[in-house]
Amino acid sequence: MSDSFEKGRSLTIHDVEYVIQEPLGFGSYGAVFKCLNTVTKEQVVIKRCRLCRESGIQISEIREITQLKALKHPNIVKLLDVGIDDTHVYPILEWVMHDLAGIIYDRQIALNHAQLKGWMYQILSAVEYIHKNNILHRDIKPSNILVNQDGTIKLADFGLSRRVNPDEVNPRYTNKVVTIWYRAPELLLGDVQYTSAIDIWAVGCILGELLNQKPLFPSENPIEVLSMIFQLCGTPESRWKDACKLPYWKVLKPKKLRIPHFKEQFSRFVEHVPEVVDLLQRMLELDPKKRITATEALKHPWFHSEPKPDPTAGRLPYETRNELWLKNSVKQKEIPKKTVYNRLPSRSKKLCNDIPKRNKVCKKRKPDSPNDKRQQKRRRE
Ligand SMILES: Nc1ncnc2c1ncn2[C@@H]1O[C@H](COP(=O)(O)OP(=O)(O)OP(=O)(O)O)[C@@H](O)[C@H]1O
Ligand SMILES: [Mg+2]
Repeated sequence: MSDSFEKGRSLTIHDVEYVIQEPLGFGSYGAVFKCLNTVTKEQVVIKRCRLCRESGIQISEIREITQLKALKHPNIVKLLDVGIDDTHVYPILEWVMHDLAGIIYDRQIALNHAQLKGWMYQILSAVEYIHKNNILHRDIKPSNILVNQDGTIKLADFGLSRRVNPDEVNPRYTNKVVTIWYRAPELLLGDVQYTSAIDIWAVGCILGELLNQKPLFPSENPIEVLSMIFQLCGTPESRWKDACKLPYWKVLKPKKLRIPHFKEQFSRFVEHVPEVVDLLQRMLELDPKKRITATEALKHPWFHSEPKPDPTAGRLPYETRNELWLKNSVKQKEIPKKTVYNRLPSRSKKLCNDIPKRNKVCKKRKPDSPNDKRQQKRRRE
């Protein structure tokens, strides 16, 4: 295989030569490139992830590869092959043109109600499928939701996912999962026995972001995120009785009582499409036990009212719109920084939730390198 993974080079995996065409992302664990399979002339995506000396392989990659191999669904990105050499592992995936992070913030794209409904239906179908297979994604966010030119959704990036055993009596999982803007309140309050409801919360945040074309809870500080959540969803009290049993409750419990404000914050939808506000409220239910499941959400009246879900209802550009395009457009000042709230949340910020001293703002840490010890430890949990 080739030593350098850059545009114009080629690499051979299982006797097939791939030409590296353009970067699609530089994630925490390596580069992601669009490539051409010179035999089939198919566009594919190759991720290059450095092998970890001690374990032999990045734990996140083992996760991604094993989960994707087992999962077959029209709305989950397809794993085509996996290459490996002395230093790296190379999952090869089907290529999908856009991701939701790029689509939401391209102001040239006019989102259409039937299209948005069609996307949400497909996202929930993928989430229902993984949850039925006892897998939690644990990193649902716009940049991990790919969209094809024809409006087909593909859920991607299973690097933080994990399989759970529904019969396990007292499971304990790490709560340092999910990019902070999309992190459920139980995780922010330190829950280590969470359920698939954390993925539904993240999907709810995406629905709100698609409706408003701005993120619902954009802060890098977990205390601030919780306070924004309480402003929209109300404070726990009788709504979520078990909140007080969570580890960080004493330090983070809200000082002021609040009632939910969905109708006010989504007032422009209330008159014409009240169903969408109802679904949003059910996905952003504070109590994970009361939060709607993916199966229930798919039966929600919003999906069965006019206009019917139609992922093809609006036109998408012929050039890729993804998180990398968004970051470059912000850098080149083509998109004002404030539209995306100064900066996109990064994975490194997930580490910022070693709370909890009220009023003590999280210290900034350097972004994690792939070899970062803390990050590696977290990935193993
Ligand atoms: N199959 C694909 N087709 C097209 N683009 C893709 C594909 N897979 C990933 N990408 C693009 O590359 C970006 C990074 O990929 P991915 O999320 O899988 O990597 P990562 O290392 O986990 O990144 P991060 O840490 O930023 O989440 C995605 O946000 C998406 O824009
Ligand atoms: Mg990602």
